[in-house]
Order: sequence, then structure tokens, then C-alpha cells
Amino acid sequence: MQKKLFIKTYGCQMNVYDSARMAEALAPLGYVPTDTVDDADLAILNTCHIREKAAEKVFSELGRLRVLRAERDRPLLIGVAGCVAQAEGAEIQRRAPFVDLVVGPQTYHRLPDLVARALHAPVVDTDFPAEDKFDRLPAARSVDGPAAFLTVQEGCDKFCTFCVVPYTRGGEVSRPLRQVLDEARQLAGKGVRELTLLGQNVNAYHGAFGKSEWGLGRLILELAGIEGLERIRYTTSYPAEMDDALIAAHGQVAKLMPFLHLPVQSGSDRILSAMNRRHRADDYLRLVDRLRTARADLQLASDFIVGFPGETEEDVAATIALIDRVGFVQAYSFKYSPRPGTPAAQMPDQVAEAVKTARLSRVQGAIMAHQRAFNRTTVGRVLPVLFERKGRHAGQLTGRSPYMQAVFADAPVHALGRISPVVITKAKDNSLAGKLCPSETLAGIGS
Ligand code: SAH
Ligand code: F3S
Repeated sequence: MQKKLFIKTYGCQMNVYDSARMAEALAPLGYVPTDTVDDADLAILNTCHIREKAAEKVFSELGRLRVLRAERDRPLLIGVAGCVAQAEGAEIQRRAPFVDLVVGPQTYHRLPDLVARALHAPVVDTDFPAEDKFDRLPAARSVDGPAAFLTVQEGCDKFCTFCVVPYTRGGEVSRPLRQVLDEARQLAGKGVRELTLLGQNVNAYHGAFGKSEWGLGRLILELAGIEGLERIRYTTSYPAEMDDALIAAHGQVAKLMPFLHLPVQSGSDRILSAMNRRHRADDYLRLVDRLRTARADLQLASDFIVGFPGETEEDVAATIALIDRVGFVQAYSFKYSPRPGTPAAQMPDQVAEAVKTARLSRVQGAIMAHQRAFNRTTVGRVLPVLFERKGRHAGQLTGRSPYMQAVFADAPVHALGRISPVVITKAKDNSLAGKLCPSETLAGIGS
């Protein structure tokens, strides 16, 4: 019998990937995805634990699901997956005893069995199992548009003092090369043109290949040979893990897009050291120079935390100086959020909330100035755009430039799923508008 599955995804791209794989794992049980929770038989919240706000959202959403279930006459199974499930398995049962199923990020391949059991009594599975979940998930991938994610690496051994990821996702594990290549070929065969390789520390990838291991640079060279695949990206990287082969790949592989998300967190060496980041501001700047030597048009994005314990005005000035020096074209910036069980939560000199708010707005202002300036430089240029979906207005499509900018243009539906030349006519803060050019315009653009 057909049943409906609703999954709400919070947090990072890896959760987006995991949600797709959970849906695939549950398909053999007759579950088909739905976008509305009202007609769902099973609702799963795939959660994020990175900051307090993200984690708290889950409990308010659970409250809404409970009310929904009470108001209707059909049963609804309620599940919590992802990093809140991993970190707070027992706590979820205490705060929300009506939850039927708690499953961590490493055990969702067991979902069919867990769901069957949850029909009778609540279940919690937050193991870090010995078996490889990817080996046990259905091999057939579903595809939703021409851009897809592929997790190649999970977990983190870096233990930045503010971060829960090493606890919720466990240590660094790379998927074997064969598995990654098979999945990439399958996706390309199903119309995927842009592949984003994912990992909490994606550039720590060391995939087994027979008796040897391949790093991310070598993997990208191999993926570039897959027919149909036209763009490759990877996220998120750790600066100290950028090796020579990966830097070189940015110069060698035209399909590797000239946009890199490389979190730096702060521009102050004192703070970077307290964060246990294993790189100084200057190491980061030299790395950026090397990357730009390999690929002159490379643009950078980053992550920043403001209000880390002990942060002074001078530290913030150093962060803004680094932002101005690199000229990030996009960045995420966050107020430091103390997370239970992490060293920074115990540090003295926690920064007051109002101070964090003021610093965040300065840092965001500095980032936005560069983002805006870069977006403006694209006006009048022809950019290759991979159209991914219909836009808000009739006749409009939307896609991404090589630099991850969202681009809107009037274009026929048959342009969906393909890379088309678009002359940029207008730049906004967070998107570009353009006009489709004759297709021969793309020859010679290169990126
Ligand atoms: N490599 C990881 C990054 C960790 S989480 C990944 O992409 O999966 C993403 C970002 O969240 C970090 O780069 C950091 O800027 C931010 N972050 C992590 N812990 C935080 C905390 N306790 N408070 C505020 N921001 C945090
Ligand atoms: Fe978190 Fe630092 Fe790892 S930000 S994911 S502990 S590299």
C-alpha cells in the first residue's frame, strides 16, 4: 500500500543528501515523498545541532506535529533524524515522549527495520555502526534536477573548540573510490550536469582504491572524465587540508568551478588559536594566493564566527581586514553559540549577546560590500548558466553561474538541465538577471 513520507531538512547540504537517501531507503516499504505534512503517514525531521537556534527549532516543530496528529483521524509516525537525534537521543524522548523514532546520521540505512518497529513501540538508534551505511542503502539514486550532491567523506577529527560536528558525525571516514565513481556515473547517466562533492572535511578525502588511497585532487581528475558531467564543486574544506594535488586541480580541471567555500572563522591569530583551527590568518592568505595562482578567476566564500569567547574589538578589526584582503564574494557569518560538551562553552570571557549582534552586523556589512561589488562586475559579461528550475515568473528559468550566483533569465523550458550563455543585465545583492544569448556565444568562455 502506498504511504506518504514527509521529510523536513535543516542545516547543511549533507543533510539534504541524507534526506534524499532516507527517502530512497524507505521507498521499498511503499513510502512516496510528499511536500505537505498534512497528508503524511511518516514525518521525519532531519535536524541540525550546530547552533542552539537550529537545535531548538526542532522541538517547536515537534510540538506542531503532535498537534497535527491529535487533530486528525489518521495515524502519523513522527521521527527525528540527523545531528540533534545523535546528540540528544535520550533527551528527545524526555522532552518529546510522543516521538516514535530517533535515528542518527550513521544508521539511517536501518530505517526500514526501525520504522517497522516504531509502529509498535518507540525506537532510538544512535550507534556508530561498524558496517558501511552506503553499502547497505539502495544503490539506485533518485535525481531531482541537473545539480546533485554526492557525499564522499563524513565526520571530522579537527575538534575546533566551538564545534559539535566531531561529536555528532564522528571521526573522518572516506567512502571507497569505487563507490563514489559508481554513484557519480549513475547520476551523470540520469542527467546530472553539476556534481557537488560533500564532506564535513571534504578535502580530507582519502578514498581506498585497491591497496592505495586517492586524495580529493586525484578524485576530481577522475570525475572530470565522466561523460555528461560538466561541473564539479566540493564543500566544505578545511584550510590546512588543501594539498598540492588539490590546488593544482583548480588549474588543471576546467570542469572544477572557479568558486571555493573555504571557512576561515576569524582573521585574528589569537582567536584562531583559541578555536584550535591549526592555521593562522597569514597561512590562509598564502593559501588563497596559491589557489589564485592556479586559477586566476577563482572566487572565494567563507564562514565566520563573531563573539567567540575572549574576542576583542581588535580581533574583529583583524577579521574585517582579512575579509577586505580576500574580497569574499559570499560568506556565512554567525554569532558564536555555546554548545554543550565543547571546550569553548567552558571558556571564560563569553561575549555579551548585544556585543555579538553589533559585531555580526559589521562583519556582514564588510562581506556584503564585496559580494555586491563582485556581482556588479558581472554586468555586461556572458556567463554560462546551468538552468535548474523554473523561476517565479512565467517564462523564466533560474540557475547558477560558475561562481554560484543565482541567475534569472527568460528562457524556454527546454533549456532546463543545460548550460546556456547568459548576458548579465542586472546585479542585485543575492542574484543576477540576464538574457539568453545565441548558444554559439559560449565557445571560448572556458568556465
Ligand atoms: N566543515 C563543516 C563546517 C562546520 S559547520 C561543514 O560544512 O560541515 C558550518 C559552520 O558553522 C562553521 O564553519 C562555523 O562557522 C559555524 N559554526 C560551527 N559551530 C558554531 C558555533 N558553536 N557557533 C556559531 N557558529 C558555529
Ligand atoms: Fe567543525 Fe572545525 Fe570540523 S568547524 S566540522 S570541528 S573543521
